[in-house]
Amino acid sequence: MLTLHSVTAGYGETTVLRDVNFTVGDGEVVALLGPNGAGKSTLLRTATGFVKPRSGRIEFGGADLTGHRPHAFVRRGICHLPEGRGIFPSLTVRENLRIQARSRDMNEVVAEVAELFPALGSRLRQTAGSLSGGEQQMLALSRAYLTRPKLVLIDEASLGLAPLLVDRIYDALRQLVERGLSLVIVEQYVQKALDLASTVYILNRGEVIHVGKANELNSDEIYQRYLGLSS
Ligand SMILES: Nc1ncnc2c1ncn2[C@@H]1O[C@H](COP(=O)(O)OP(=O)(O)OP(=O)(O)O)[C@@H](O)[C@H]1O
Ligand SMILES: [Mg+2]
Repeated sequence: MLTLHSVTAGYGETTVLRDVNFTVGDGEVVALLGPNGAGKSTLLRTATGFVKPRSGRIEFGGADLTGHRPHAFVRRGICHLPEGRGIFPSLTVRENLRIQARSRDMNEVVAEVAELFPALGSRLRQTAGSLSGGEQQMLALSRAYLTRPKLVLIDEASLGLAPLLVDRIYDALRQLVERGLSLVIVEQYVQKALDLASTVYILNRGEVIHVGKANELNSDEIYQRYLGLSS
């Protein structure tokens, strides 16, 4: 469904990704792991049109989208949930949902979100910035439901959240997978990501240094062999 063929990309003069090959199949869940600064967020930005590759090719849903803008990716069914959540803190929950859901009927949207995340359903008039971290992450995740994407790329799903909330977020992600979506997860709680993922990519200094099945690795091994690497 998504393929990066030998992609090199970066910012200005700086090269971050070097010759990266990365594939996500239909219904596949990929955990993208690696130390700080490895290029995980840059890979997600490149795979969704926010960073243009310097060389290589990007295909999504059978089309060559190399060099296309983010909206071309969104239109074909990509949903990128960036680090820092990508919500509008000064707008209310309801206003954020309206933006996420675009032209969909708001009564339907509110009902869907309230069922999924009751904590949000009762806070529609609150500004997004005044929600707790977990509630903000639920609001960010709502976009992955409301826009009916085919592929969701989520950057640091559980950053800064208490363990109970992390579980809640992962329950929501599991529901997305059960609907047949494909997922790419960047996650600091390696074991959480491995439990959900079928495939693991490990990135270091902008290069893919390991690709394999998630059930062939445990989190201790990953920490010892790969994440202790300097970047
Ligand atoms: N907008 C930018 N302009 C210039 N350099 C950037 C920019 N964003 C990231 N970088 C650099 O690119 C490299 C990779 O950063 P990236 O954010 O992709 O790493 P990451 O694996 O997501 O790290 P973390 O785990 O800390 O989130 C880093 O050296 C970073 O400083
Ligand atoms: Mg990052």
